[in-house]
Amino acid sequence: MVDSIISSRDVNIFYADKQAIFGVDMDILPNKVTAFIGPSGCGKSTFLRAINRMNDLIPICYMEGCMTIGGQDIYAPEVDVVALRAQVGMVFQKPNPFPKSIFENVAYGLRIHKMAAAKSEMDDRVEWSLKSAGLWDEVHDRLDQPGNSLSGGQQQRLCIARAIAIEPKVILMDEPCSALDPIATAVVEDLIDQLRREFTIIIVTHSMQQAARISQRTAFFHLGNLVEFNDTKTIFTNPVDERTQNYITGRIG
Ligand SMILES: Nc1ncnc2c1ncn2[C@@H]1O[C@H](COP(=O)(O)OP(=O)(O)O)[C@@H](O)[C@H]1O
Ligand SMILES: [Mg+2]
Repeated sequence: MVDSIISSRDVNIFYADKQAIFGVDMDILPNKVTAFIGPSGCGKSTFLRAINRMNDLIPICYMEGCMTIGGQDIYAPEVDVVALRAQVGMVFQKPNPFPKSIFENVAYGLRIHKMAAAKSEMDDRVEWSLKSAGLWDEVHDRLDQPGNSLSGGQQQRLCIARAIAIEPKVILMDEPCSALDPIATAVVEDLIDQLRREFTIIIVTHSMQQAARISQRTAFFHLGNLVEFNDTKTIFTNPVDERTQNYITGRIG
């Protein structure tokens, strides 16, 4: 697809001799929220982690096929994985702030990537990130307090602020609301909708309601196969594949 930012072609992923992903071709559009749905164990997280090479950290995991971002093969030998992960940030299921202050959680990546020379620039970027993550009003007067002193929902927004501080192109989110209560979930969902103006977002969710609420495109995985990928509305109202129909109507999964 010409307009896509991320493309996979015939991606197979294995854990030792067990295959977890089978021949996935996918084109992800920029500035949209793409949801990955499907029953537990169907390969959503495995495929998501292939997009910023997080599977490299699992010794028994290996991949075949091609994955490009902005036309660049991210598995090419010359690729700097640290730089890649700066372009493709990640937010995890459980909020995982560093054992540092709120300010330092956001400043950390900016220091590592040398993105703020002067203190005023650092302050501005931290403020911008916390504002973009919808957290500034709640924390601006306590930036020196530990990140883990915040509520769960605030911690997750802090992790989002940390991810966006270094201005990635893509943000991967693996069930980012599953440890949050419904109110904190609603706040993060609104935030995701705001963020797609500037970023491309891929979110794994076990909640079909969440996928329907916040995504424009939905990919349904089943047993390691990408069964169907289309506009979210089409997936939920007029799916083509019987497996998708069965999943969205609650017959499998
Ligand atoms: N670190 C791992 N080592 C071995 N097998 C794994 C590992 N992570 C996932 N798997 C297997 O790969 C398959 C896909 O898992 P996963 O991508 O986590 O699915 P999902 O996110 O859809 O629940 C499952 O069969 C799972 O057991
Ligand atoms: Mg998973």
